[in-house]
Amino acid sequence: MKKPVKVVVTGAAGQIGYSLLFRIGAGDMLGTDQPIDLMMLERNNEQSLKNSRGVQMELDDCAFPLLNSITATSDPYVCFKDAEIALLVGSRPRTADMQRADLLAANAQIFVEQGKAMNEVADRNIKVLVVGNPCNTNAYIARRCAPDLNPRNFTAMMRLDENRTLTQVAQKTNSTVAQISQLAVCNHGGTMFPALTNATVAGKPALDLITEDWYVNELIPTVAKRGSAIIQARGHSSAASAANAAIDHIHDWVLGSNGEWATMAVPSDGSYGIPEGLTFGMPVICKDGDYEIVKGLELNQFQKDHIAANIRALEEERAIVDEIIAKA
Ligand code: NAD
Ligand code: LMR
Repeated sequence: MKKPVKVVVTGAAGQIGYSLLFRIGAGDMLGTDQPIDLMMLERNNEQSLKNSRGVQMELDDCAFPLLNSITATSDPYVCFKDAEIALLVGSRPRTADMQRADLLAANAQIFVEQGKAMNEVADRNIKVLVVGNPCNTNAYIARRCAPDLNPRNFTAMMRLDENRTLTQVAQKTNSTVAQISQLAVCNHGGTMFPALTNATVAGKPALDLITEDWYVNELIPTVAKRGSAIIQARGHSSAASAANAAIDHIHDWVLGSNGEWATMAVPSDGSYGIPEGLTFGMPVICKDGDYEIVKGLELNQFQKDHIAANIRALEEERAIVDEIIAKA
């Protein structure tokens, strides 16, 4: 039997947590031969801890053979001790009247504290996925507060936008999501856009199969506003689809993407003129538990303009949190 991997899920009693934990227990994330020591982090208040206990009871009642142990705590230093994978979900979701960036003030401190805790006690090569919004900038905060850990390993979730784009393009082109390759997304915020310049559908260029009008006036706004549309329709922000995307992200990072592109927001290495260190969505290929940014792609003016808008948005957020980090 393989050695158990220690996996942290924060916000374990929240909506996404409730969709995520059971799929992790079932082996969807790390494979059906990988035992897990599951660590659940919740806020230190009576209601959150009570909810967390309820979720733990249900996990127990699933009798998942892969769950070697389940620990629920409100102490990040206990939770992150020797952790090898962390899904940072716990944070406030937005309501219908908010943009994702409005969550910065509400959530930044969570990632300061968790970054510090990971820096002290986590496995030195912990893989971190930030889901809590605004996720690109929260991943940046956690990385900055964990200077002794591998900076490459602080990532944020673009996969939900990627999956949303896949389905929209598949439906429009009468194809299946499995036939679509090589699309990328750069930021999980209002200025985000799915880049289709290199995308293919059943081997044909995606842009030959759709009109520019549909791409610019239908696809981009649909994907960019999908989170709001779900909040309007459900009264709550996306949960099961977000949990699914988190599973996809970690699955590919750990087990490989088989030569396919996956979109992850990672610390920029300066590629494509994206300022070094900005947590930016990039096409990556995952292999042997690591990822490599896909390099050398030609960018057209449309992509350059949209990338520039996202750089500006993320740099504004970064300037705000740099002040918070400096005081931390
Ligand atoms: P939720 O309110 O249902 O659950 C959040 C949970 O986090 C709550 O149980 C809360 O008690 C807990 N929490 C808060 N602070 C914590 C802390 N310091 N430590 C541990 N737990 C803490 O919210 P949700 O719907 O699960 O969404 C969580 C976050 O994910 C939100 O910020 C939301 O905007 C974001 N989100 C991101 C994406 C994405 O694609 N990146 C998609 C969907 C949602
Ligand atoms: C989403 O895209 O569904 C999430 O980021 C939730 C939100 O606030 O839009």
